[in-house]
Amino acid sequence: MSRNDRLLVKNAKQVVLICNNGEKYLTKQSMNNLCVIEDGSVVIGSDGLIKAVGSAEAIRAQYSESSFDRVIDATDMCVLPGLVDAHTHPVWAGDRVHEFAMKLAGATYMDVHRAGGGIHFTVEHTRAAAPSDLLASLRSRLMRLQRAGTTLVECKSGYGLELQTEIKMLEVIEEARCSLPINISSTYCGAHAVPKGKTAAEATEDILLVQLPRLKELMSAGKLRVDNIDVFCEQGVFDLDSTRSILEAGKEMGLNINFHGDELHPMNSAQLGAELGALAVSHLEEVTDEGIVAMAKAKTAAVLLPTTAYILRYCNTPRARDMLDAGVIVALGSDFNPNAYCCSMPIVMHLACVNMRMSMSEALAAATINAAFALGRSHTHGSLEVNKHGDLLILNATRWEHLIYQLGGHQETIRYVIIKGSVVYD
Ligand code: NIG
Ligand code: FE
Repeated sequence: MSRNDRLLVKNAKQVVLICNNGEKYLTKQSMNNLCVIEDGSVVIGSDGLIKAVGSAEAIRAQYSESSFDRVIDATDMCVLPGLVDAHTHPVWAGDRVHEFAMKLAGATYMDVHRAGGGIHFTVEHTRAAAPSDLLASLRSRLMRLQRAGTTLVECKSGYGLELQTEIKMLEVIEEARCSLPINISSTYCGAHAVPKGKTAAEATEDILLVQLPRLKELMSAGKLRVDNIDVFCEQGVFDLDSTRSILEAGKEMGLNINFHGDELHPMNSAQLGAELGALAVSHLEEVTDEGIVAMAKAKTAAVLLPTTAYILRYCNTPRARDMLDAGVIVALGSDFNPNAYCCSMPIVMHLACVNMRMSMSEALAAATINAAFALGRSHTHGSLEVNKHGDLLILNATRWEHLIYQLGGHQETIRYVIIKGSVVYD
């Protein structure tokens, strides 16, 4: 019998595994047939990995409670994998509450951007901010995400648009990665906007000749870890050719491609992502039928962000149903940023169900295994399978769907958040 396993969660009314055959992602049919155990238990070993998951009876027969550091009795509660947020911009200074009022009065996202607000406003404040202040606000935002059930989150740079501030942001993300339990996937997004006073061609040249080479040096010297590369491929920002050259350069450095595309205008971003072997393309409110087919074929995940369409009152919400029907790997993200101030993946799933017509099972798969796939982490995260990270939520409810059904209710529904077998919210 093993001694000192970290955690036993026993007698849960439901344990939602998501999948149990080592699948790296789910598509429509399997998203609607999630693997659920009624009356189950989960064992997490001393290494923080899942050691066993099964019926409460089988686990009881195999393990003695005295061998665990901690036992949680989950009678009348549900266990789910920790949520994965596949798209956030959490490092910035200066909020934009004043712009929310402008947008409510009718200004579009690009109206605000062209007037020097939007990303430019945040860039100005973030450039001026001390790293310690950026870290303090990042930490408190990540704690909010974690409280709402997120245990793996993608974090972008992109409010520097020049070398020094982009590196400052990535270093702040790295410090958070080393000092907080939440799992982080970091993204260089130096091509988030064209900096004031530069043309898109000049900005592209700066990224290719100055920013990426320095990033490569820091990464090779082991001084910085970066996982993904991102570009905002959009009219008036980076066109398809600039996007291609930046993403290709990042790919050559070993970064995963995961970028903003087809948000405000159809740009053929989806096709470009498929062609370059992108792990994911985000947004896609304006994706074409051809783009959907290309992504399904290439197994490039679509990271859909229901908060953006909601806050900006887009006529077109992301075409989740068309994508699911075509076999696209659909994932979800909060898009947390000063424009879309949402830290809650349960709210994101609720919006995905109501506004994008996803089923609750599809939304949960999109916010777990498929979001992990979009970050290249679905071999270790996103489902409750043996040898994956022991990241899970325990819900104060007898059916897991309460996590989505109770709009804005995570404070009541989420009873525990657990990362690698340690309770981080109780
Ligand atoms: O994903 N579309 C571009 N980027 C962000 C918004 C960033 C901002 O407005 O600060 C997004 O929605
Ligand atoms: Fe974004």
